[in-house]
Amino acid sequence: MLKESLITTIENYLHELFDHDPTGHDYYHMKRVAHWSKVLAEKEGADPFICEIAGWLHDVGDAKLFQDPAQASEQALRLLSKQGILEQDCQQIKMAMADVSFSKGRTPQTLEGKIVQDADRLDAIGAIGIARTFAFGGAHSQLIHHDEQGSSTSIQHFYDKLLKLSDLIHTKSAKEEAQIRHQYMVDYLQRFLYEWEVVNEQ
Ligand code: ADP
Ligand code: NI
Repeated sequence: MLKESLITTIENYLHELFDHDPTGHDYYHMKRVAHWSKVLAEKEGADPFICEIAGWLHDVGDAKLFQDPAQASEQALRLLSKQGILEQDCQQIKMAMADVSFSKGRTPQTLEGKIVQDADRLDAIGAIGIARTFAFGGAHSQLIHHDEQGSSTSIQHFYDKLLKLSDLIHTKSAKEEAQIRHQYMVDYLQRFLYEWEVVNEQ
């Protein structure tokens, strides 16, 4: 019961924070990362509760998304304390949230942190990953693609980052899903480039 009311409180809080995000970091990104964090934790023998909560909150305090990242993280942790989460669990959630992001370039210390990072990376690849990439690109006035190789476009982002993610996955269970999503992106890019190039063929 405590857990159900905690999740409802977190969901309401995240709706407030992320409902209007147009960059691929909306409420449903948090929901998917929480879902996969819990599922992966169950398969990998980690703590599903810690992973799920850290999954929900993993982007709270991201420097790209918050003007005052430290204040945002503290507010989220205060919310957990007010809901009666044990101090020890809060610390674990804090650790798992701390260095999840690929862009921060760190490898999490705990299995729970690795799992949340895997869940976040899964959401950056596959069909949803493709959609998020173009959403991010549009929100940042970035072109879809360009004839000049190496231009900073959304298609270029696949080569710079997304096609590398499946090799960076930590856990066996996430790896299986990542490989399917990776192949989907490879097929998508092949078709995209075919449709792009066909106009240059006459
Ligand atoms: P994280 O927040 O997980 O550290 P990012 O913010 O780099 O990672 O990526 C989050 C989402 O934004 C991903 O779906 C990613 O594809 C997209 N994204 C990040 N940078 C770019 C970019 N330069 N062009 C297009 N999409 C991007
Ligand atoms: Ni994220």
